[in-house]
Amino acid sequence: MNNSLIASIPDLHFSHPAVKTALTRRPRRNRRTAALRGLVQETHLHPSQLIAPVFILEGDNRRQEIKSMPGISRYSVDLLIEEATALYELGIRAIDLFCYTPNEKKDAQASEAIRPGNLLQTALRRLRQELPDMCLMVDVALDPFTDHGHDGIVNEQGEIDNDLTLPVLAQMSLLAAEAGADIVAPSDMMDGRVAYIRQILDQGGHQHVGILSYTAKYASAFYGPFRDALHSAPKFGDKKTYQMNPANSREALLECQLDEQEGADLILVKPALPYLDVIVKIKEQTALPVGAYHVSGEYAMVMAAAQNGWLDADRVFEESLLSIKRAGADFILTYAARRVAEYQRKR
Ligand code: PBG
Repeated sequence: MNNSLIASIPDLHFSHPAVKTALTRRPRRNRRTAALRGLVQETHLHPSQLIAPVFILEGDNRRQEIKSMPGISRYSVDLLIEEATALYELGIRAIDLFCYTPNEKKDAQASEAIRPGNLLQTALRRLRQELPDMCLMVDVALDPFTDHGHDGIVNEQGEIDNDLTLPVLAQMSLLAAEAGADIVAPSDMMDGRVAYIRQILDQGGHQHVGILSYTAKYASAFYGPFRDALHSAPKFGDKKTYQMNPANSREALLECQLDEQEGADLILVKPALPYLDVIVKIKEQTALPVGAYHVSGEYAMVMAAAQNGWLDADRVFEESLLSIKRAGADFILTYAARRVAEYQRKR
């Protein structure tokens, strides 16, 4: 608009009393310069608050890209050390290990999960040696190891049997602790597993090993790419008898209460962005640290759009992770950890 046009508009703007009052307050003043914006920034994202999930596989010098998760690969233990070192140097001080199990090693009992000297323990021992200050976490659940793809043992009635599963989860946790894990992270959603694992760890002399409980893990469609990565999609049925109904949030408070009573050290909500309200609620209820898992599907959607030139992945990830922190997450598991830390370093 040119000046003569503006001049022709009646001066409602400053004569209207409501507008006059509003303009004594100008929130934009605090956004005027980068320095001012920095002063009033309420939430920060630091690499020390990120946990990088990593997929591992057997063999040497092997790296396999995961098609549905651009930028993410499965690594053999030697290459895992390189990846973990790069993460550490970027300030990411925690990784969470997930095992890829070849089909011939899977069975109904998840025997490979509790075989002494398996891939998971080998990886932990090497990492502990090479990166003594890195926080080492392991995912505890049976789905990467069962031929049916469920997180627990299936009984004769074809049900995922809660109580038959607990000893296997606890044994898996104990072996991980012996191999140097700092934290075991049960993601299976069986009832009572935190107490059971705590007891077995303590009996084994691993009082210092913590439990990050997947407290509110939803039966979510966002896990698709992860199941590609581990070839772990369930062969029958779904996970709705153990993972939570996406429609519920009060139920998450019950899970949180129980995990706290059972001795969890850290609480996790998963997925992250579609469940920010659950993070808020749980944070209000517990004094334990609360984390969120920004899952494979949340990562893949952004990468797919970015590959089409529709989104700027770095900026979308940074904004997403900040939102998860703003909702109350103290730490975040995310496949974008390395990318975001590199992006922040560049600026
Ligand atoms: C296994 C497990 C899953 C994820 C983490 N641990 C998959 C599932 O429950 O089917 C999903 C992680 C992701 O999608 O990034 N219990």
